[in-house]
Amino acid sequence: MEKVYIFDTTLRDGEQAPGFSMTADEKLQMAHQLAKLGVDVIEAGFAAASKGDFESVHLIAQQVEGPIICSLARALEKDIELAGEALKPARRKRIHTFIATSEIHMKYKLRMSPEEVLERAKKAVEFARRFTDDVEFSCEDATRSQREFLYRVIETAIKAGATVINIPDTVGYAVPEEFARLIEDIRNNVPNIDRAIISVHCHDDLGMAVANSLMAVKHGARQVECTINGIGERAGNAALEEIVMALKVRKDFFGGLYTDINTREIYKTSRLLCRITGSFVQPNKAIVGDNAFAHESGIHQHGVLAHPLTYEIMNPEDVGFPSTRIILGKHSGRHALKRRLNELGFKLSDEDLERIFEKFKALADKKKEVYDEDLEALIYEEFMKV
Ligand code: KIV
Ligand code: ZN
Repeated sequence: MEKVYIFDTTLRDGEQAPGFSMTADEKLQMAHQLAKLGVDVIEAGFAAASKGDFESVHLIAQQVEGPIICSLARALEKDIELAGEALKPARRKRIHTFIATSEIHMKYKLRMSPEEVLERAKKAVEFARRFTDDVEFSCEDATRSQREFLYRVIETAIKAGATVINIPDTVGYAVPEEFARLIEDIRNNVPNIDRAIISVHCHDDLGMAVANSLMAVKHGARQVECTINGIGERAGNAALEEIVMALKVRKDFFGGLYTDINTREIYKTSRLLCRITGSFVQPNKAIVGDNAFAHESGIHQHGVLAHPLTYEIMNPEDVGFPSTRIILGKHSGRHALKRRLNELGFKLSDEDLERIFEKFKALADKKKEVYDEDLEALIYEEFMKV
């Protein structure tokens, strides 16, 4: 069994998305919940980005125990210094420094030559090591970087003291097979790669962030950077809940890899983030959407009532969902109706059930969902009215 470290960046990359910014107190509340969830690393913010971000990182470093607390920093001394300062009170701290390594970023954004980038990466990691011996280095836009150059930058960062090497798919450009190959190639071509943990950080522009992360893990990455509900820049980051549950439910495929996430805290964490940001996940969102464990069609309801695993590959309780939600609507069958009526305290003969079933179907044709109050009214109308 080998552990996959979960690096949560909800409070940094997640917060960078429009409409998701949080106050220091809100971030602190989220950070406490992330600690309960059992993440290994909380990227609490980008200390140099603003006074508010510095304070959030500092507050979390002071008050949240358990996970490693991390701040992002560009490969600049002033950024790294601020990160080191903000993280001072943390028992376990990490500085995460990064620089872009793709031609397009180096030429148009950084206006630096590859040799200058290489030198800057080395200096940044060495400087960060003055504040902590846990230093992560990211090659921004790694998936669009020239291969030999990428290997050189990684080798240099490891030599300079980086303990985690992060491979971001910054613009969500990779596809799973190709990304898996990239991780394998890095493992086979970078000298001393075994001295560092390989991390991945995937964006969801083409909807493949989770698939890319999982394939990377299958091919040797041992840290995944992800966010609650998949929030993050543009289309978002890989969703933590999907990564964790895929590794758990498909242990057979992932060869015994595990995480230390307390999966029963997943739903609560997702809801807390929704409440704080005022942005709710779509109903069909995997793992945490309202419909993730809901069954409306008669065939599915019958199956799930007979045995939950007929149409559910995990127990809702395992992710902290209250219970499987059976929606009564026009596709529902007798089994589901009978069960709900029983739960409401009505035990009907087969004949009476048939009568109510007819009425229920007629009502369900007129509305999206039939609620408990509707059923009670039907029973009253049919059997109790004098
Ligand atoms: O997407 C990205 O490349 C990042 C880095 C700063 C790790 O968020
Ligand atoms: Zn990112």
